[in-house]
Parts: sequence; structure tokens; C-alpha cells
Amino acid sequence: MLRKCLFPVAGYGTRFLPATKVMPKEMLPILDKPLVQYGIEEAAEAGLNQICFVTGQAKRAIEDHFDRNMELDDHLAGTERANTLLSLNELITGCQFTYTRQAEQLGLGHAIKVGESLIGNEPFGVVLPDDFCIGNDVGVMSQLKSIFQEHQCTVIAVEEVPMDRTASYGIIHGHQISSSLYEVEKLVEKPAPESAPSNIAVIGRYILSPEVFGELATINKGVGGEYQLTDAISNLAQNSRVLALKFDGCRFDCGSLAGFVAATNYSFRCRFGTAPP
Ligand code: G1P
Repeated sequence: MLRKCLFPVAGYGTRFLPATKVMPKEMLPILDKPLVQYGIEEAAEAGLNQICFVTGQAKRAIEDHFDRNMELDDHLAGTERANTLLSLNELITGCQFTYTRQAEQLGLGHAIKVGESLIGNEPFGVVLPDDFCIGNDVGVMSQLKSIFQEHQCTVIAVEEVPMDRTASYGIIHGHQISSSLYEVEKLVEKPAPESAPSNIAVIGRYILSPEVFGELATINKGVGGEYQLTDAISNLAQNSRVLALKFDGCRFDCGSLAGFVAATNYSFRCRFGTAPP
């Protein structure tokens, strides 16, 4: 039973300073909706409606965003903007939100390990909200869930990247078992192009078996002096099955200014049918 989704959101967002001095980077809007809300809608669409945040200092706005604001609802009632909070309020009532804090920023692997107290011993989704993903038919988490339901194992989302970009991603070593699916043998975090095992990169959507927590407990600090989720999944692949899905859709790296602007322009075109003026 897959019902929980973990959102690591403790990062400082230094690439977006000064905007992120007091505002969480996950609250930066693509058009009129915060980045993190897209991720939660994607999880909820896949039926993962128990939303678990690993949060940090200066992230309170996220908790407030996923709570009803009755005063604002009353203020909007009967006005032409009465419907603007409708879908968010539905999301809030349809999901349960729990929070824990990552007191020290020791990497993504550490953040996921901190989330163990919210997840327990069951498979779970992970969404990195910086990766803004648009599935062609259904969302990326729903696509991962279909593979999970068929194979009952860890599934990670991947996409091909230019070879000279491997040092920005977790990269898989594996073999293709169908047009969109790979059996993963190992993963390498941010390899230089000359040592990268492929150009198939991990993007920020995962369904993980709870065994990953045991692996996270044994890994050493890796690339960048941080505990890397990639290293734990790579160890997991030695003992159990890990599949990688080339998802159907597109993805923008909203951890970078260029990716953020591209995602904004793309979303504008989707909504208004024309490029922004
Ligand atoms: C993280 C992961 C990396 C993955 C990437 C996807 O890196 O460590 O394996 O490819 O997310 O966005 P980050 O972008 O946080 O450096």
C-alpha cells in the first residue's frame, strides 16, 4: 500500500537569494501557484495523500500554506475571486500533512533518513519540489506508481541528459529491459562526464522501499561532503531490485534561474495558449 510521500524542503535556496532570505524557495510561484503545491498535487493524484515534510528553519510559510485560512475564505466569499482558493482547499482537506525538522543540512540522504520517523516501515514516494515535472497523460508519480504496483520494488524517475551535464545529477548504470524501463545495477552521484556510466540521470521523483533507511544508516559522506540518497539506492540495488523509468513528460530544473524562467514561460503558454508578452 503506497500512501505516503516525503518532501525534503529544508534547503536554504541560496541560488535564489535575496528572494529566499525569509521565504522558502519551495514557495516561489510558477505563475500563481507555489512550486511545492504542484508537487503535492502530483502526489495526491497518484493517491499518495499522506504528505510528510522534512523541513527546516524559515519554512513556516509552507505549513501555513497547507492550512485553511478561514479569515481569507470569509473575505473572498461572494466576490469574483471566491473560487481562487477552491482547489487548494480541496487539496488541504484531501491530504494529511505531517512535519519533522532536519536540524542540520547534511545532504539529501540525511534528509530522507530524518523522514523515517514520519514514514515508518512502508514504501513511500519522494518528491524534490525543485524538479518541476509535467506528465503527458498522468503525473510522474502516477507513472512510477504503475511500475511499482507491477514489480513491487524501488522505482526512480530518469531522463537522458547531455553527456556534459552528468556532474549535476545522479547517474544510473544498468540495462534497458523495455523502451522506457531500466534495471539498475548501480548509481553514481554527480560523476564527471569521463567517468559517468551513462547519460541517464535521476530526477527528483522516487518510490522507495523502506529498506533504503537501513542503507542510509550505513553510508559514508559522499560527493560534496554530504550523505547522498543516490549512494543508499546504489547499495540497495546490490540486494534488491531497483528499476528506473524514463517518464513520459517534461521536466524543468527550478533549482536554477534559467530552469525557473523556462518553467514559467512553458506554464504561461499552456494556460494562455500564447508566449508571454
Ligand atoms: C539531487 C540528487 C541527484 C538528482 C537530482 C535531481 O541533486 O542528489 O541524484 O539527480 O537531485 O534533481 P541536487 O539537484 O539536489 O544537487
